[in-house]
Amino acid sequence: MSIVVKDLIRVYRTGKSEVIALRGLNLDVKAGEIVAIMGPSGCGKTTLLNMIGGLDRPTAGSILVDGKDITQFSENELVEFRRRNVGYVFQFFNLVPTLTAEENIELPMQLAGTSHAKRKERVGELLDIIDLHERKHHKPDELSGGEQQRVAIAVALANDPEIILADEPTGELDTKTGKEVLQLFHTLGREFGKTEIIVTHDQRISPLADRTLTIEDGLIIK
Ligand SMILES: Nc1ncnc2c1ncn2[C@@H]1O[C@H](COP(=O)(O)OP(=O)(O)OP(=O)(O)O)[C@@H](O)[C@H]1O
Ligand SMILES: [Mg+2]
Repeated sequence: MSIVVKDLIRVYRTGKSEVIALRGLNLDVKAGEIVAIMGPSGCGKTTLLNMIGGLDRPTAGSILVDGKDITQFSENELVEFRRRNVGYVFQFFNLVPTLTAEENIELPMQLAGTSHAKRKERVGELLDIIDLHERKHHKPDELSGGEQQRVAIAVALANDPEIILADEPTGELDTKTGKEVLQLFHTLGREFGKTEIIVTHDQRISPLADRTLTIEDGLIIK
């Protein structure tokens, strides 16, 4: 799915103070493209991902996903858009601690009403992709950081979204494990044609992405 962000503005108001997190940002991502985004703390990276993922709404501007402006969606349409089209991967792995790896991966499919047989089949495919069959009965605290992040990626992929948004997915990982996770994102883009936006401080993303952009002060500068 293509993503076209036009003149995006997001102002946060808390009490009397105002923060302009995005100040007219433009971005054009082609279907199947892998775009890395860098930039200093507070420049608006998470804000941008939240808008594109339909987790939050901009103050002004538009976000066309496959030509449809999601900023005009009703609350219900936005929920549906997220569930069908967006897989979100966070810095902290965001797994349910009481569920095993396999059960965590199955959860989004349960919520989407997928049949038992289809869920089991999909869990098998996803365990292949993240290469973690032998740990599927482990709970998150029985997995390494890298393994937890791979499970979190499988959770994001469960309902087969076309868009993957990742917010510092290697921030909590050591160098080697971080590299493996970035490699996995690369594979998802190339083999499965996912459109990906990856926010990271990790320079090693550059050869794995189609483009690396820098945000400064709520605008893309290069
Ligand atoms: N809910 C909020 N209410 C008020 N201000 C906010 C809120 N969320 C973010 N901000 C402010 O908006 C600006 C952009 O924040 P954002 O989280 O997008 O930055 P970031 O680039 O993701 O930073 P980091 O690299 O530290 O994660 C910051 O100045 C931040 O303080
Ligand atoms: Mg952030």
